[in-house]
Order: sequence, then C-alpha cells, then structure tokens
Amino acid sequence: MKKILVTGGLGYIGSHTVVELQNSDFEVLIIDDLSNTTMTVLDGITAITNKKPNFFKIDLKNKDAVANFFKENKVDGVIHFAASKAVGESVKQPLKYYENNINTLIYLLQEMEQNKVKNLIFSSSCTVYGQAKVLPITEKAPIKIAASPYGNTKQIAEEIIADATKVSDLKAIALRYFNPIGGHDSILIGELPIGEPQNLIPYITQTAAGIRKELSIFGGDYDTYDGTAVRDYIHVVDLAKAHVVALQRLFTKKQKAALEFFNIGTGKGSSVLEVIYAFEKANNKTLNYKIVSRRAGDITAAYADTTLANKELGWKSELTLEDALRSAWLWQEELKK
Ligand code: UFG
Repeated sequence: MKKILVTGGLGYIGSHTVVELQNSDFEVLIIDDLSNTTMTVLDGITAITNKKPNFFKIDLKNKDAVANFFKENKVDGVIHFAASKAVGESVKQPLKYYENNINTLIYLLQEMEQNKVKNLIFSSSCTVYGQAKVLPITEKAPIKIAASPYGNTKQIAEEIIADATKVSDLKAIALRYFNPIGGHDSILIGELPIGEPQNLIPYITQTAAGIRKELSIFGGDYDTYDGTAVRDYIHVVDLAKAHVVALQRLFTKKQKAALEFFNIGTGKGSSVLEVIYAFEKANNKTLNYKIVSRRAGDITAAYADTTLANKELGWKSELTLEDALRSAWLWQEELKK
C-alpha cells in the first residue's frame, strides 16, 4: 500500500481528496496546522471511509518539524494543498502569502529530496492564466502577470517545482483547478468558510440560510451573454478524484515530462446568474440578490479545455452543477445543527 502525505489534508479540497485516496487503497498521512479548519473534519473523513488517517499538527513554516516528520515517516508521494488562499487578503498581506505559500514549498521540496521522495502533486490554479484571450483555456495558454500576491504564489510555485525537477529525480504534476464547489454526498465534510465568505457558492448558501441578507452580484456589465461573469464550477469530489489519477500516473511512470500541467474543470462556463437560477431550482429556494459594481481583480470569463486531462489522465468530471449546488445546500443545513 502506497503511503501519501497530504499537506492541508483537513482543508476543503484536501479533505475530499483524502477520502478518495483512502477509497482507492492509499494510506494517508495528513499534515495540517489547523489555521483554516478544525479537527472535526478528521472525524468526517473517518466516518466516510471507516479509516482514520494519521494526523500530524505541523506548521510547514517550521522547517525542523517538517524535517522530523520526514525522518520519522516514510512516504511514497506528496499532495501539497497547504496554502493561504484568500485573494483579497493576499493583497493586504503579501508577505504572509509569500511566506506561507513559498517558504513552505521550499522546505517541503528540500525534505522530499533529502528523503528521496520523488512524487509530487501540486495544487495550482487557473488564476495563472488571468483573462485568457482564447476560451476554453488550454494548458498552452500564456501565463499572465498575476493580479494578486496569491495568484503570484501559484505561478512562482510552479516555477520552483519546474526548476527542482531539472536537478533532481522529482516528478511532479500541477493541477490547475477552475472553481471547486459543493461537498461530499454523505454531508460529513464540505467547505468551511470562516467569517464572511468571499466565494460565490458559500455566499449563496449563507444567503439562502438567512445568515446573509442579500447576495451581491459583482458586475452586470461584463461582455458575456447575460452581463455577469462566467466561471467553470467543478464539483469538489470530481476534483478530488483527479488527484488520485494524477498520483497513479506518477506511480505507473506514464508521465511525459518531469513536470506536467493539467486543467481540472468541467469544460463548461456558467454565469453568476445561471448559478443562482440553478441553485434556486436544485434546492427549491428563492435567493435575495442585487447587481452591484464589479469586484476589483475579477476577470470576465474562464472555463477549461479539459482535452488533455481527459486524454492523458483518463479523467473527466462526472457530477453536474446541480449536484454540487444540492450538496452545498445540504452541507449548509448541516452546519446549522
Ligand atoms: N461573485 C459574486 N458575488 C459574491 C462572490 C462572488 O458575484 O458574493 C462572483 C465573482 O465576481 C465571480 C464569481 O462569482 O465572477 C466567482 O467568484 P469566486 O470568488 O467564487 O471565485 P473566483 O473565480 O473569483 O476565484 C477563484 C478561486 C481563487 C482564484 C481565482 C482566480 O476561488 O482561488 O479564481 O481568478 F484565485
């Protein structure tokens, strides 16, 4: 049984990925510093899979703690999720983002090299493309100057990993996620936004639950079919499964370059209004919303060309926007209890 270290394994995408890894017979070791999640997520994972992953409360900024972890635990591969991810906060606290997202990656790569751990899946983002000229976006689309320190950390991280693969045995796959949404069918894990949500779906579910008075749609004057911005919303369980197949690609040595990139999305764009209508229909709820001015830094439209992931990983998203919006709402109701 292969042992996989999942950093940030109690976070939103991390926890769903741990479930899929355990379901695919990987043994999972989680490192998380609990800065943006809680231990209850470990219980949720355990309840779904009947298996408790090994948990280590470690802050990856603590180089000695990371070194100790690798000394004491032999792992075959790493999936690196742990990072700060709030775009707006990154503009206000850039150094925190560079420290949390870049220093930690360097420590991790150093320890992987030291301990001959050669397989890495890295959590990247479609943010590296900025507003692409051509839609849908392929992996060949040019990387744009980042609009935020957060986005920049993803670009720099990809470059650091690329450089590391040139001088070592490291093999890596960077998955560039589009917009992950929804939660596990069991309603035992889901997204846990702390404070006022910044992302669309948690804002929608909190509005439907009466926690927020009204949803603001940021911009009604975009050059799209209904004037609202378009994104590729992918069910987090589909996204989690992409990590499992990417890992299997590394272990079966099928990769064609030391570092590969894959877009992970559905291939379909949905506008903010379409998401709202789909949410109302899927859950039989009515949402309060109004159109306000654009949010700084937002792009008009982004959706993935998933041909490469389909062909090379044999992966395809299976769940629908409605599935994701139903699970997001059930999770919101669960959080009330
Ligand atoms: N939106 C609203 N109202 C809200 C929240 C969001 O109208 O209250 C809109 C946004 O303007 C955007 C869409 O809903 O058009 C999606 O917004 P999200 O914040 O959910 O997602 P983003 O596409 O802005 O962000 C995602 C990832 C980030 C990443 C970014 C790169 O969550 O990690 O893409 O563009 F950096």
